[in-house]
Amino acid sequence: MKIINVVGARPNFMKIAPIQRVMNATEGMEPFLVHTGQHYDERMSKFFFDDLQLPQPDVYLNIGSASHAVQTAKIMIEFEQVLLKEKPDAVLVVGDVNSTAACSIVASKMGVKIIHVEAGLRSFDRGMPEEINRILTDSISDLLFVTEESGLRHLKSEGIADEKVHLVGNVMIDSLIFFKEKAAQSTVLQDLDLEKDAYALITLHRPSNVDDPVVFERLINTFEKIEKELKLVFPIHPRSRKRISEFGLEERVAAMPNLKLLDPLGYLDFMHLMHNARVLLTDSGGIQEETTYLGIPCITMRENTERPVTIDVGTNVLVGSDTDKIYTEFKKVINGQAKKGEIPPLWDGHAAERIVEIIKNTIR
Ligand code: UD1
Repeated sequence: MKIINVVGARPNFMKIAPIQRVMNATEGMEPFLVHTGQHYDERMSKFFFDDLQLPQPDVYLNIGSASHAVQTAKIMIEFEQVLLKEKPDAVLVVGDVNSTAACSIVASKMGVKIIHVEAGLRSFDRGMPEEINRILTDSISDLLFVTEESGLRHLKSEGIADEKVHLVGNVMIDSLIFFKEKAAQSTVLQDLDLEKDAYALITLHRPSNVDDPVVFERLINTFEKIEKELKLVFPIHPRSRKRISEFGLEERVAAMPNLKLLDPLGYLDFMHLMHNARVLLTDSGGIQEETTYLGIPCITMRENTERPVTIDVGTNVLVGSDTDKIYTEFKKVINGQAKKGEIPPLWDGHAAERIVEIIKNTIR
């Protein structure tokens, strides 16, 4: 059985790695890795292939950055050629990036089965490009693997047949568990002169936060307030770095003595930094889940989340971009009143095995 596994952007790599590994070890399965090149900087891509022991992609499409329409269209044009040549039994996509939706649409029009891993998540915010990608991909998928119970409800209410949908756990947590010991050997704390629990780790890249100068400046104000009480470590996404210079915020960022601005980090270094952080301040999707698994407080600078289990069961709180709300939650953490959480069902390191077993028994 030949399955094309698609990766494109940074959050895809840690999701595909365990699936690719289990497929490789499964008799009769022939995984074929396609990298669209949506992310192409060394630090956004190559570092992850190395850290996650991903094989070199069988095909690299070299798409790069562009507007949503151009990026999506270019991926579709190139991916159609791959399907014509490789004739897979199915295409497996993960997450909600433009590569996910683009490759799914192509497969669907060519009658190739689509497997979506991390299906059913909904923020109910159609202003997020990812929400459109999720809805599109789920609506044309043949097999949908869900990380949390909310996904089952959403897919049912959208009319997706029950037999296509499986709650299997979380492949990103598979990677976290698989690489936990290796990440613990990272020297990043010493390299950055940091101590456990003595810093907050920031990530920020959502268009809703960084593309609007008013919102971005409000977040910088907030960081200025927080860094007086705790060190801040901020590995910055290329999009956000660009905006800082476009909006003339460089000097203010440089003037914060307790803020360390870093280039994007590889997987193992970032996991180690997260594991040892007092608190995460983020607008990422995946980090909400990783912190819930690790039991580390997560303050999410968004108005909504497509991952409600991290709120209902985990350590996550939603604060939007409001300075007072962010600061209030930060103080709770500092004062030892952070929310306690539990690990959601099936986030046990074996999601990829369940997925591959179901694929084996279902496709064809
Ligand atoms: C994409 C995903 C988002 C995910 C994020 C993680 C979509 C719609 N969004 O957003 O869900 O959370 O990846 O990083 O697919 N850039 C570089 N080098 C790179 C990649 C990007 O400099 O290797 C810069 C470019 O200026 C580019 C911008 O980042 O225009 C945005 O990249 P893009 O792939 O469009 O989306 P992300 O914001 O990274």
